[in-house]
Amino acid sequence: AKYTVVEKGECIACGSCGATAPEIFDFDAEGLAEVVLEGDNNKGVTAIEGDLVEALEEAVESCPTSCIKVAEVAFA
Ligand code: F3S
Repeated sequence: AKYTVVEKGECIACGSCGATAPEIFDFDAEGLAEVVLEGDNNKGVTAIEGDLVEALEEAVESCPTSCIKVAEVAFA
């Protein structure tokens, strides 16, 4: 499984991640990306598996500021 968080301080709200992986990323009230997997709240604690891993990897590649962080273990 993979885990992911958006470092919002580096997000420029380009919108690419939400377009690429809408099941994982959406935008907060300020237009910055965040992880919207149920119960995650952009903490990077929700396991991403199966087809979503591919969507995640595409989103990471699409991010111009490399602010989508990915790890093999939960972030918190
Ligand atoms: Fe922000 Fe990168 Fe998504 S800049 S909107 S996290 S693709």
